[in-house]
Amino acid sequence: MAQAAPVAGLKEDVRDFWNADPCGSRYLGDCADFEAHARARYQLEPHIHDFAGFARSRGQRVLEVGTGMGADYLEWLKAGAVASGVDISSISLERAKRRCEMAGYAPDLRVSDAERLPFPENTFDIVYSYGVMHHSPDTQQCIREAWRVLKPGGALRIMIYHHASLTGFMLWLRYGWLHGKSMRQAVHDHLESPGTKSYTQQEASAMLQGFDQIEFRQVFSPGDLLLNEPSPRFQGLAYRIVWRLYPRFLVRKFGAKLGLFLLISARKPASR
Ligand SMILES: C[S@@+](CC[C@H](N)C(=O)[O-])C[C@H]1O[C@@H](n2cnc3c(N)ncnc32)[C@H](O)[C@@H]1O
Repeated sequence: MAQAAPVAGLKEDVRDFWNADPCGSRYLGDCADFEAHARARYQLEPHIHDFAGFARSRGQRVLEVGTGMGADYLEWLKAGAVASGVDISSISLERAKRRCEMAGYAPDLRVSDAERLPFPENTFDIVYSYGVMHHSPDTQQCIREAWRVLKPGGALRIMIYHHASLTGFMLWLRYGWLHGKSMRQAVHDHLESPGTKSYTQQEASAMLQGFDQIEFRQVFSPGDLLLNEPSPRFQGLAYRIVWRLYPRFLVRKFGAKLGLFLLISARKPASR
């Protein structure tokens, strides 16, 4: 099974991690340039617009779970959705709020836990969550909450991390094999916040019981292809050489089943 029992204090550790380093901060530049962040994000992850379906959301009631610094949340507002957003990290939300206000919007953003959403049941047409639920100690509970707040017939669109992946393999090479850790354990201990989980398609299906029209799509993360700027942990000469020589063409051609990002679309049945 992908999920170990949640560890006491883990959620606070996750929150502290994202407060210390809100997601994507390295693309902000020195002067909190939100446009630079959005440019880098959508260039590195060009599938996001199509997957999220911003352009089809005018007038829809949308909840984004785990907005981070709010690049996608702002896209919902720009598209004319009636969007609310939550994140457990107050620092990320402050930035998201500033981003939206600078763009002339009045955001509805709340510091809140994906495992206990502050909304009544049957509220939203769309629940969207990109790269978030695998960080929360009880991912299944995040999905239950998404179900609860979705209207009957509402759409779930989430991205969670896939097992196995090239990113997982690289983390295993770096931190795992010498220390007797599995790939999942290397991801758990070293991919972003502590306790990060990754799922096979079968494991993800098991968490989506009750949803219908479930569709999976697997895509490469920027990390799988070493397209992103190396984080501070990977700044040495050896890493720069690996980044330079990485055979991206071959990886794209033969590694398609090893993408880190599992994009999931599903629907809450209309008659429940
Ligand atoms: C990898 S970042 C993704 C942020 C944003 N969706 C994006 O794509 O840039 C993960 C985010 O999930 C948030 N998060 C983690 N656990 C959470 C929870 N239980 N409830 C709400 N947000 C959570 C973190 O604070 C962080 O902002």
